[in-house]
Amino acid sequence: MKFFIDTANLNEIKEAYDLGVLDGVTTNPSLMAKEGISGEENIKNHYKAICNIVDNNVSAEVIATDLEGMIREGEELAALDDKIVVKVPIIKDGIKAIKYFSDKGIRTNCTLIFSPGQAILAAKAGATYVSPFIGRLDDVSFNGLELIEQLVLIYQNYGFDTQILAASVRHSMHLIQCAEIGADVATCPLNVITGLLNHPLTDKGLAQFLADHKKSNG
Ligand code: G3P
Repeated sequence: MKFFIDTANLNEIKEAYDLGVLDGVTTNPSLMAKEGISGEENIKNHYKAICNIVDNNVSAEVIATDLEGMIREGEELAALDDKIVVKVPIIKDGIKAIKYFSDKGIRTNCTLIFSPGQAILAAKAGATYVSPFIGRLDDVSFNGLELIEQLVLIYQNYGFDTQILAASVRHSMHLIQCAEIGADVATCPLNVITGLLNHPLTDKGLAQFLADHKKSNG
């Protein structure tokens, strides 16, 4: 399972990368705004800065919602660095844009996936990744993890190459459940990744080991 970090914060990206387990980064316009990044040039420079930290898989989202605009923005983003994956919303022109990028060998992440039908369309258009938002489904009393299960089955049935990138992962149990179901990737905030480390018996055991060592070594 690949781990992506879902943030545009350079310090957090660096911290996750330094752990040695990071496979990529996802951003979206809200996450960029949260970091105070605005204006076309600043946004592009920020993506370049992210690419300079990680080895691959930096999702950069288009803002346009028409085909021509998505193609123009997506090509500009892809030209910034080979690590860029162009993130496109699941709308009619988005599907056409994904097909266009796929034919040109530009990797895509189809975002705002909330149903199996949307994910089938994205896979047929040749998306590299689809991003089902599991936390946001849970927020409105739908079952986000059930959607991941459906996508794993459907993609297996037909041998789609598209990878399931579980997004809107809110806590460490979400991440573990995605791994059990077989999501290819999970993207989440840094605390969800580091949360995997925590267990009270680990803390207790380590404290005991250190105390025993101190007793016999002074
Ligand atoms: O990757 C999508 C993610 O940023 C959405 O997460 O927590 O805002 O639903 P959230």
